[in-house]
Amino acid sequence: MKFKVKTAAPETQDTACVIVGIFLSNRLSAAAKRLDQACGGIISDILSGGDMGGETGDILTLYKPPNIPCQRIILVGCGSQRKFTDLTYRKIIGNSAKQLRKLGIKEAVSYLPELPLKDRDIAWKLRQAVISTVDALYTFEQTKSKKKSPRKSLEQLVLMVARKQDSAPGKQAVNEGVAIAAGQSLAKDLGNLPGNLCTPGYLAEQAGALAKKHHKLRVSVMDEDEMQKLGMGALLSVSRGSAQPAKLITLEYKGAPKTAKPIVLVGKGITFDTGGISMKPAPAMDEMKFDMCGAASVLGTVLACARMKLPIHLVGIIASAENMPGSRATKPGDIVTTMSGKTVEILNTDAEGRLVLCDALTYVERFKPSAVIDIATLTGACIIALGHHPSGLLSNDETLSKTLLTAGKNSGDQAWQLPLWDEYQNQLDSNFADMANIGGRSAGTITAGCFLSRFTKKYDWAHLDIAGTAWHSGKQKGATGRPVPLLIQYLMDQAPRS
Ligand code: BES
Ligand code: MN
Ligand code: ZN
Repeated sequence: MKFKVKTAAPETQDTACVIVGIFLSNRLSAAAKRLDQACGGIISDILSGGDMGGETGDILTLYKPPNIPCQRIILVGCGSQRKFTDLTYRKIIGNSAKQLRKLGIKEAVSYLPELPLKDRDIAWKLRQAVISTVDALYTFEQTKSKKKSPRKSLEQLVLMVARKQDSAPGKQAVNEGVAIAAGQSLAKDLGNLPGNLCTPGYLAEQAGALAKKHHKLRVSVMDEDEMQKLGMGALLSVSRGSAQPAKLITLEYKGAPKTAKPIVLVGKGITFDTGGISMKPAPAMDEMKFDMCGAASVLGTVLACARMKLPIHLVGIIASAENMPGSRATKPGDIVTTMSGKTVEILNTDAEGRLVLCDALTYVERFKPSAVIDIATLTGACIIALGHHPSGLLSNDETLSKTLLTAGKNSGDQAWQLPLWDEYQNQLDSNFADMANIGGRSAGTITAGCFLSRFTKKYDWAHLDIAGTAWHSGKQKGATGRPVPLLIQYLMDQAPRS
């Protein structure tokens, strides 16, 4: 699908479809007003007749409006003009995209980016328009035997800007949006693939495929023998019960001089989490194929970064394993030695994410990172604490956490911080090892963060718990591609201005 940026009046558009916004109490957006005047007031007639109210979610298609060349007008409800927010903007963009798909329209011209939005410039609105459109139109068909026909899908969307001088920065913003959307779609695709296809080996292959396509990317894949040599006893304890060998994948992007200290992203890549010997109950266990969504977000973010050619040095690390209860599996009470030398008593084999992450977090010390961010579907407790809207954020550095929270707000992919206070640390006390891998029922997300914090003392670090945000359950079951938008926003903010 192609996106274009243009400046032109709506009543002149010779196209299959023009999209304009309608606010509550029959308030027409600027573009809607012009159309209304050009076609003899049919839009105001429809609104005063009560056929559409302008609530968000309302949508109405007018066919062959008089006196103007376009074949259709789609009126998109935008809610109250006073309360028009980032969230509503993204929603109405998504709604209009879904309407285009429903009607089987191939090309359309949208005036929604012209709607005034507090504190947001045209670049932001265009970037978000692209991301929200691609997000709304995403489908996953790799594992269906009959694919839907692509004949009737949207091929081109023209995004209109009111001022001519906005079109140059607008084009750049659209390119950024396309790159971010591609990263987010990749994260969704990987997340949605089932555990029998998406294995640690498969993730390694996908990282290799990315590196082949982009010459600034380098990949390396570590196998279990090498991990053994480095003493990664915690990571290896997770894959012991599985026929699938663990992989530690490094995907490095060099868009800045060698001397630049890298930002390191570390993703939890459990390609299926049965819980191991501490096995999970059967209901919804299929959703544990999504336990590699942290890893998927790392690959998606590296891809977006490479496509945008950001002038930064980025290292993506994926700690990947399958958590199974095979005959060699780790048992509750087993004690392992981590790469850091610290020992861990594994009281619950279902708390495996922190075990693969802790060795990866020790491993990344060698990159002398400027910051390390790990991304993990780490705790069910995070869903209890925060629900499905923000990701959980824990950090040992205030500047880093503030920067990430801001990136979350600006990308619409929000995070919310939880405390990482010392008071919680003793919940991890063990009678037999340096620490236990679980901290009891209370504050499960925080004690998981406390566990990781013991391996991240040498650098500025933040942890994103995406258990509640990485996928949807129920009828809409599927990966969200989060937190790719947050991460890429953070990286864009870190890049020196060109
Ligand atoms: N992958 C799960 C966390 C999870 C569960 C995410 C459900 C999303 C939905 C993780 O490996 C896990 O099993 N965590 C345990 C930790 C506990 C044993 C301390 C949990 O949350 O129950
Ligand atoms: Mn688990
Ligand atoms: Zn898990």
